[in-house]
Amino acid sequence: MESIDWSNLSFGYMPTDYNVRCTYKDGKWGDITISDSQTFEMHMAATCLHYGQEAFEGMKAFRGKDGKIRIFRMDENAARLQSSCRGIMMPELPTEKFNEAILTVVKKNERFVPPYESGASLYIRPLLIGTSAQVGVKPAKEYLFIVFVTPVGPYFKEGFKPTPMVILRQYDRAAPLGTGRYKVGGNYAASLVAGEKAHDMGYSAVLYLDAKEKKYIDECGPANFFGIRGNSYITPKSSSILPSITNKSLMQLAEDLGMTVEVRQVPEEELSTFDEAGACGTAAVISPIARIDDLDENKSYIFSKDGKPGPICEKLYHKLRAIQYGDEPDTHNWVTIVE
Ligand code: PLP
Ligand code: COI
Repeated sequence: MESIDWSNLSFGYMPTDYNVRCTYKDGKWGDITISDSQTFEMHMAATCLHYGQEAFEGMKAFRGKDGKIRIFRMDENAARLQSSCRGIMMPELPTEKFNEAILTVVKKNERFVPPYESGASLYIRPLLIGTSAQVGVKPAKEYLFIVFVTPVGPYFKEGFKPTPMVILRQYDRAAPLGTGRYKVGGNYAASLVAGEKAHDMGYSAVLYLDAKEKKYIDECGPANFFGIRGNSYITPKSSSILPSITNKSLMQLAEDLGMTVEVRQVPEEELSTFDEAGACGTAAVISPIARIDDLDENKSYIFSKDGKPGPICEKLYHKLRAIQYGDEPDTHNWVTIVE
């Protein structure tokens, strides 16, 4: 097998052996098939290409010290994909079918699950698209569900190190009653210009404010936001953010640590009262925030001066990773061991 430098993987695409597929036709989902091709043919008038009928998921599998492979909170991703399907008029993929596809693709690509010592993981990318032709703006009649996997390292190249983020008021990612709470491609297309601008200015991500009032924190480009003040874990409540499974897990872990969890609107000014802040997500894990610059208001909120994550971010990060890699007991039943 080709030699992979497991400890120095970035968050990118690397071909693996197999992907799995399942099609929806005549009102029902078919059987799961295994493919070794990285491409497929599609009608040029497919709704995913024209009208954005596309939803995806992001999840990870981890190899433990014991050699076993663990998948984190698979049922939650199945449920969120179903919610995205309802959001953009695609047929829901049943949880059992979703789980079967995930377990199959991970098993078939077992050799790409990074070794425990590397700290890397296997990123799993489920994708559901409308494939049949439609020229009027209408949902497709046929759909394709595909899952591919690729080994990854940290999303932000700095890894578990604080990075600066920026508020750019002239861009919105999603509208309050729009599709922000679904994991659909259009939201990411809408974030590209602001994201690239932020990167060009040396920031790791954009911190979006709510699109209506530009008053409350929404989320970071590809991740949810949380702040720590004293013994409280504070995270935004908003109709335009993705309900992050990592954030949900961190809230539980914070509670387990005896912290108070607050899910509510978070006005931008409150940033000045936080001891620590972070971005969280499957890809981002916890990415501590060093500083948030509000360029329009000429303000900076500083969370780390010494280049190190704060103590609560540190604790939550290690706790979460310990459960994912099987170093600590899975007391909340979050992990599926691949047999
Ligand atoms: N917010 C956005 C916009 C995302 O793309 C992601 C990544 O999936 C998240 C938040 C984090 O969600 P999760 O923790 O379920 O990966
Ligand atoms: C994830 O965290 O899984 C994501 O999907 C974030 C980004 C790569 C889109």
